[in-house]
Formats: sequence, structure tokens, C-alpha cells
Amino acid sequence: MQRYFDNAATSFPKPDVVLDAIVQYTTQCGASPGRGAYPQAVDATELLDACRTQLCEIVNAPSASHCVFTLNCTDALNIAILGIAKHFLSKKEPVHIVTTAMDHNSVLRPLHELASQGVTHTIVPADPETGIVSPEAIQQSITNSTRLVAVAHGSNVSGTVQDLSRIGAVCGDVPLLVDAAQTMGHTPLDVQAMHIDLLAFPGHKGLLGPQGTGGLILKPGIERILDSTRTGGTGSQSEHPVQPETMPDKYESGSHNMVGIAGLVASTRWILNKGVEAIHKLERQRTGQFLEELATVEGVRIAGPLTNEHRCGVFSLVSETCPHEFAKALESEFGICARSGLHCAPFAHKTFGTDVLGGTLRVSIGPFHTEEDVSFLTQAIAACVQKCLV
Ligand SMILES: Cc1ncc(COP(=O)(O)O)c(C=O)c1O
Repeated sequence: MQRYFDNAATSFPKPDVVLDAIVQYTTQCGASPGRGAYPQAVDATELLDACRTQLCEIVNAPSASHCVFTLNCTDALNIAILGIAKHFLSKKEPVHIVTTAMDHNSVLRPLHELASQGVTHTIVPADPETGIVSPEAIQQSITNSTRLVAVAHGSNVSGTVQDLSRIGAVCGDVPLLVDAAQTMGHTPLDVQAMHIDLLAFPGHKGLLGPQGTGGLILKPGIERILDSTRTGGTGSQSEHPVQPETMPDKYESGSHNMVGIAGLVASTRWILNKGVEAIHKLERQRTGQFLEELATVEGVRIAGPLTNEHRCGVFSLVSETCPHEFAKALESEFGICARSGLHCAPFAHKTFGTDVLGGTLRVSIGPFHTEEDVSFLTQAIAACVQKCLV
């Protein structure tokens, strides 16, 4: 039997209602939203609107029309970073962007690419034990030409969760872009209380929707400094050659992934019915159990927070064994699906000194894991470590 522990990559399994909703949409609707007045197109528009509303409810965002659908979290981060840079570059103004060592390549690579256009960036270091980034250090890196601060809420390497309220407070007038890839759906987030201007998220991880879904939630008004980087048909203002400025059409060109969004409507409804707080409480129980049990296993340690404070259910394990061999042994001997390597976050691994080891073995917990699953995982890790050490 396979046991899936790679929820940081994409969540599995999904709630049953997700598949039901996909089948229902595919067999009984199938139309594109906003592209016709016939009943199926109207139904599809209602589904799309319901999805925006539910996503906003999960993070206390005030305006459903400011929830933009994207292909995944990478796409949302690109729209935010490239769009802000484009806006200021077109006015011949300098552009500096702040990010952190815990951020993912979906932030780091757009920044690297923008360097050729004169955009500068600062990567704020993180604590080498915990991965926590000091809000004061972020504040100190902000200059007169800083146009954006981009921060990963939860690290996909160590599970470190940054203090967004404090980071939001130090950003002042500089817009804050939060990458919620590892937290949305199971960690409480309030975009208004946390002063978040742009929230990028995948639909297929903690939100439990299908792959190929994601989004960007904008604070109303931020669209004035966020240029669109993709243009095309929106089903609106078709007589004009220019991309509409109206929300969300400004950033949503082309047909939507309605099969995926139908599933996301169901998964976000499932999350709202359970409550993010309740899902978070369960996650904390499982992460607490894993931390406690793993502490008794010799020959393996965790890179990142060793308590339930400042963390989510993503763990990087370090041992004498090469992480890829470790992952192979866990899979072949115990059917455990986990991910080894650098996890697209090279500076996070540099922070922990695990880059030189070829990365770590990452295991990540999901909402359907039981106490027994977690104990099985710890025992399997212990058995693999012992076997590799003898
Ligand atoms: C922290 C973080 N940011 C961004 C991404 C990119 O997400 P997606 O795969 O939805 O593009 C990931 C994916 O693992 C991630 O862990």
C-alpha cells in the first residue's frame, strides 16, 4: 500500500466532493463562463463567481472581483512580480524588489530574469536554525525605489511560517506580496488584518482542488500599479484593441480551466464547512505528534522549527544518508511517497546548510492523515535510518 506524504507538492487525496463536482460540470454543463447567454454559460459564470467568493471568504478578502484565476501559484507570482515591475519600468522609474532566502524559485527566477531590465533585488537572510526572517531585516532592506516585498508565508522546505502581521506592519506603503502556497486552506490568513496587498496561491495544495488551478487576490486599488503581462480575449469590451482595465478581466485572458475550477468550488466549500481553524488544529495535532515521535529516533534531525510554533506540516529530514537514497528506501520498503532534493528553493537549503548534502528528504502532512499514518511514517524513517547506518 502506498502512503502519500508529498502534500507540499500537491495534495492527495482530495475530498470526494471534488470529483463529483468535476463529473457534474463535465457531463452537465461544459460551457465557458462569460461567453454566452444560454443556460450552461450562465451556470458556468455562477460557478466561477462562487469560487471567487469562497476563496475570498477563506482569507477575508473584501472584493470577489479582485480574485483572479491563474494556472497555479507560479503563474500568480509571475503576474504580480512582472506586472509591478512593468508598471514602474514603463515610467522609467527605478525598481527594487525585496524577497527572502526562504522563497521559492517561482519568485527567485522572475527576479533573476528582471535583472536584465535593470530591476534590482535584495534577498533577506533567514535564521539558519529556524528559517524565520526578521521583519526588522525586511524593513531595513526597503529603499526609496522598493516597489514590492515578496514573502513565502510557509516554507516548502522546512515548514517555517513567517509572522505576516509583523511583516505587513513594517512594509508601510510598499505593497506586500505573499506566497501562500504552503498555507492557504489550512492556516488562518486574513489579508486585511495582515496588510497583504497581493496573495498568490495554488488551488491544488492546501485548498484541495485539482491541479491547474490557482489565483491571485488583490487588495482593491493595487491594480492601478499592476500592469497586465498577458493580453487576449476576455469576453468583454471586444471592440477595443486594448486589454480591459476592469477587474478581473485585466488579468484573465482566454478560456478558464472550468473543469479545475468546478473542483475548486467543491473543495473550498468543503474547507469552509469544516472551518480553516479546525483544519489547522488537526494539522497541529499531527505535526506535534510527528515532532515528538521523531525526536526519539537517532540518526535523523529536522531542519527548521522543532516545535509547533512558527511551522506548518512540511518537514525536511537530514541524516547521514543521501536524501535520494533515503526517499528510495522509504518508497521501496514502506510505500511512502516523499520528495528528496532542493525543492526549488536553493537559498532555503543554503540557509540550513543542506544544499551541500544534495538537499533533504521532505515529508508533508495533509488533512486526511491519521495518527496511525504519522506513527507509521516515524517507524519507517527509524527503520530506514538504522538500515543505512549499519
Ligand atoms: C512556496 C511555494 N511557492 C510556490 C510554489 C509554486 O506552486 P505551483 O506548483 O502551484 O506553481 C510552490 C510549489 O511547490 C511552493 O512550495
